[in-house]
Amino acid sequence: MSANNSNSSLRYDISDFAYGTWRILDEETPPAQDELTQRFHRCLDSGIDTIDTAEIYGSYRVEEAVGASLKSDDRLRSGFKVVTKAGIDVTSDEKNHARLPHYNATGENLVRCAEKSLRLLGVDAIDLFLVHRPDWLTHPEETARGLSQLLEDGKAKQVGVSNYTIHQFETLDQLLDGRLATNQVEFSPLCMDPLYDGTFDQCIQKRVRPMAWSPLAGGSLFRDQDEAGKRVRDKIIELLPKYDDAPIDAMVYAWILAVPANPTVILGTNKLERIESGIKGRSIALERQDWYAIWEAAKGYSVP
Ligand SMILES: NC(=O)c1ccc[n+]([C@@H]2O[C@H](COP(=O)([O-])OP(=O)(O)OC[C@H]3O[C@@H](n4cnc5c(N)ncnc54)[C@H](OP(=O)(O)O)[C@@H]3O)[C@@H](O)[C@H]2O)c1
Repeated sequence: MSANNSNSSLRYDISDFAYGTWRILDEETPPAQDELTQRFHRCLDSGIDTIDTAEIYGSYRVEEAVGASLKSDDRLRSGFKVVTKAGIDVTSDEKNHARLPHYNATGENLVRCAEKSLRLLGVDAIDLFLVHRPDWLTHPEETARGLSQLLEDGKAKQVGVSNYTIHQFETLDQLLDGRLATNQVEFSPLCMDPLYDGTFDQCIQKRVRPMAWSPLAGGSLFRDQDEAGKRVRDKIIELLPKYDDAPIDAMVYAWILAVPANPTVILGTNKLERIESGIKGRSIALERQDWYAIWEAAKGYSVP
């Protein structure tokens, strides 16, 4: 299946895969800095040239850990494009003014967070800076003012949003003269909302490549307790002989990459071997009826 969003005419060309850093410090024994640096090298070796992070990841500690690797290694610093996000505050020692989780997409907050990200990441400019979630209390003109300032000051090369509805995207995009570069949204066989709520159609219309977070539904695809996940996994296993016994996660990524909006897959694994096996999804061309067989397994019924 092809006829995807053609990369040449996109507002911003993001690669097929990005490496997501949300969970990198979550393991019982978090990785030593050297281990993280090695992992990032393996990403680059595998052709993954984008790191996805955010101010709040790891209770505000992940950007610093990513930055420690980038600062210490020229190949990583020059090889990666960095996507980061701001606009969510959670309680932590870092933000002791936050009594409860809340959103803040004011221009002032976005600029302040971006400046902190630049410092922690050790880069001259953020390649792609995203508003993490829509903030219902901030007028979009105010958000646009902050994003424009970041672009004009060269602190962000591109700006975009995450988890925006199509109307929120349209409003902010107009205020920014069509400069939003992506909408990062949840998408997997277990979360197909962007196919139905217009998100992907809007991305195609605006020549914007969406980014898909939690492509394996946060691991639910591998948990037997998740009935839909188990059905999807069983269906993929049934299909594997036809696809040279490809890894299951690679088949899921191929399913994501096959939709016409051609979302960038944000990998969330902490396992080197899963990074390397997953990117095989890039070269799997799912047959149309197999894509629909996975859709059917996820939904539990056939197409209407
Ligand atoms: N914009 C947003 O609001 C937003 C929200 C959430 C996430 N994100 C971004 O999206 C990235 C990816 O999200 P995600 O971490 O939820 O991705 P995901 O790939 O859906 O889930 C990753 C989880 O699945 C597990 N997993 C992967 N392969 C597995 C396998 N073969 N068997 C069993 N478990 C497996 C991983 O464990 P192992 O580490 O053991 O492999 C990890 O715990 C994040 O890092 C972040 O950058 C953005």
